[in-house]
Amino acid sequence: MRDLRISVTDRCNFRCTYCMPFDEYQWIERHEVLSFEEIERVARLFLDFGIEKVRLTGGEPLVRKDLHRLIAGLSKIEGLPDITLTTNGALLASQADALYAAGLRRINVSIDTLRPDRFLALTKRGNLDEVLAGIFAAKKAGLAPIKLNAVIIRGTNDDEVIDLVDFGRRNGFEMRFIEYMDVGNASGWSLERTVTKKEILDTIHARFPLREVGREHGSAPAVDYEFLDGAGEIGIIGSVTEPFCSSCTRLRLTADGKLVTCLFAESGFDLKALIRSGASDEDIRAQVARIWSTRVDRYSDLRWEQLRSGAYESRDHKKIEMITLGG
Ligand SMILES: C[S@@+](CC[C@H](N)C(=O)[O-])C[C@H]1O[C@@H](n2cnc3c(N)ncnc32)[C@H](O)[C@@H]1O
Ligand code: SF4
Repeated sequence: MRDLRISVTDRCNFRCTYCMPFDEYQWIERHEVLSFEEIERVARLFLDFGIEKVRLTGGEPLVRKDLHRLIAGLSKIEGLPDITLTTNGALLASQADALYAAGLRRINVSIDTLRPDRFLALTKRGNLDEVLAGIFAAKKAGLAPIKLNAVIIRGTNDDEVIDLVDFGRRNGFEMRFIEYMDVGNASGWSLERTVTKKEILDTIHARFPLREVGREHGSAPAVDYEFLDGAGEIGIIGSVTEPFCSSCTRLRLTADGKLVTCLFAESGFDLKALIRSGASDEDIRAQVARIWSTRVDRYSDLRWEQLRSGAYESRDHKKIEMITLGG
C-alpha cells in the first residue's frame, strides 16, 4: 500500500449530477465522524506499511471545520512525505493561505466546465467564479502543482476538452481528465455517456501533440502525457476502459472510520470501532495487515470484462456512496 485516501466528511456544498445528485442523504452522525486526533493516529500507523501519500477528500473536505488544523497535525508526522487534498474549490479562496501555512503544498481542484451556466447545471449549487477565484488564490498562496480534475460526460461537457486544456496550459495548471464512472448508486451512469480515455487523448493530441510519460510511481491512476511544445503535462484516468486494479496501491478511510480497499466496495472494516474500543497500535496494525493481505478487489477489471460481453448492469452492484468513501 502506498496511497491512503481519507474522507474527512460525507457532506458537500455541491450536488454534482454524476456524484451526489439528491438533496438529502443518510448523513453520517457527527459523533461517528473520526476526529482529527483519530485520523492522525491512523495516518501514523499506516506509515509502517509503506504509505507515501495521504490525500484528504470527501464529500467536500473544505466544509470540515478548521481543516487546516488537521493538515498541521499531519504535517508534523515524521516520515509522511506527501499530503494532498481534492476539493471542489468553492471555499478555497478563503482557506488557501491557511492551508499553505499549515503545510499543504499541492492540491487537486475539480472543474468540469468553464461555462458559468453549465457549471451551475452540473453542480446544482456551484458558482464558477468562486471556484476560479479559489484556484488562483491557491496559486498565489504558493500551492504547486495545482492539478485540475474534469469528469468528461458525453453530451454534457465533451465539447470543452480543448478549452480546459488551453486554460491549464495558459495558467500553469495540469488538467486531469477522468472517465465518467458508475460510482455510488444514484448517478444514472451508462457506458454510452463515458467519453473514453482514447477519445480524450485523440482530441487533445490533434490540437496539442503529446507524448506519453507513464504513470507516476507505476501505480498512479492517471497516465501522464507531456506536450511536445514543452507547455506542461496532462493526465487521463481511464478507470472504465483501461482499468488498473492489478497495480492498485490505494486504501480508503471513510469519514466514519471504515477501512475500504476498493472505490467500488460494498462494505468496509470498522477501524473506528477498534480504535474507540481502546485497541493498541499493535492490534490495529495486525487487523490492517490481515485486511490488506487478503484483499481480492478487482471491480473495475471485472466491470470492463462484463461491459464488453454486454453482461454488466450497474444497478446490480450495491456500492458505498463516493461521498462517504472519498473519491
Ligand atoms: C468525490 S470528489 C471529492 C472531493 C471534492 N468534493 C471534489 O469534488 O473534488 C473526488 C473526485 O471524484 C470525481 N468524481 C465524482 N463522481 C465521479 C464519477 N461518477 N465519475 C468519475 N469521477 C467522479 C470528482 O469529479 C472529483 O474530482
Ligand atoms: S464531486 Fe465533489 S463537489 Fe461534486 S458532489 Fe461529489 S463530493 Fe461534492
